[in-house]
Amino acid sequence: MKHLLSVEDLGGSDGINEVLDLTDSFVEVSERQIPKVPALRGKTVVWLFYEDSTRTRLSFEQAAKRLSADTMNFSVSTSSVKKGESLRDTVLTIEAMGVDCIVVRHASAGAPWRIASWVDASVINAGDGWHEHPTQALLDSYTIRQHLGSVDGTRIAIVGDIKHSRVARSDVLAFTALGADVTLVAPPTLLPASLDGWPVSVSYDLDAVLPKCDVVYLLRMQRERMTEALIPSLREYTASYGLTRRRVDLLDERTLVMHPGPMNRGVEIAAEVADLPRSVVVDQVRNGVAVRMAVLYLLVGSGVDLRRVTGA
Ligand code: CP
Repeated sequence: MKHLLSVEDLGGSDGINEVLDLTDSFVEVSERQIPKVPALRGKTVVWLFYEDSTRTRLSFEQAAKRLSADTMNFSVSTSSVKKGESLRDTVLTIEAMGVDCIVVRHASAGAPWRIASWVDASVINAGDGWHEHPTQALLDSYTIRQHLGSVDGTRIAIVGDIKHSRVARSDVLAFTALGADVTLVAPPTLLPASLDGWPVSVSYDLDAVLPKCDVVYLLRMQRERMTEALIPSLREYTASYGLTRRRVDLLDERTLVMHPGPMNRGVEIAAEVADLPRSVVVDQVRNGVAVRMAVLYLLVGSGVDLRRVTGA
């Protein structure tokens, strides 16, 4: 595998499980007193983020540093993009400096595919528009496996703004490939115009779904992507689709609460619910570093013996 642009690049459950199994090794490395291995020594990774990020950008940076890669930061706000430089010229300029991997986030769906067609370096999609966010799906799958033993056979409700969510698209691909039973829960206006080919069920009734799921995966209300009035008000949205304290009582005691972040506390999730022990949001973030170490190792560290570099 040269690039990771979509969950589909992993080739189904075998490829996804390969990354999750490898992640176990990097979780072990991350727990060491000195959490660093020389797997990517001599390699250079650059972050090309045209959209804001906290978790994805910092965890990729942490992952690359733990693998001993050199890193280069690119900030749109202080770059020649502000003088009108095109995406292609920007990418070719960065590649000319000698990079092995480009981690890209862009507001336009498909931008990582365009970049991959222009460069020899590996490209990782860190989120493209409403389209995909494959490493989020991997860290979510890993977190479910960590807490419930397996994704296979779990019942997962993905709740909220599915229409604008790249996380939902990648999670549906990964969760269903791993054998989960996925239900999308949202008002009709926050669902994609067509769900043809999506191997999911749909419900408009959160209270009916909650008692029957092992994972409630809440999505952020993406106000910045809404160009039309898709819900009457945030207050009404919370009343029908927010995970309030009352709704938590409808869940089985083992049911996990997940969220990709950043959370709108008080909108899709009550502030107190986000901090309950069953909420594994912080574990998702922590696992994101080890999952991204596994992805970088697979794409850029080929030929390096994992047992030699981890000592495991
Ligand atoms: N989950 C996620 O992609 O968060 P960031 O936008 O902070 O990277």
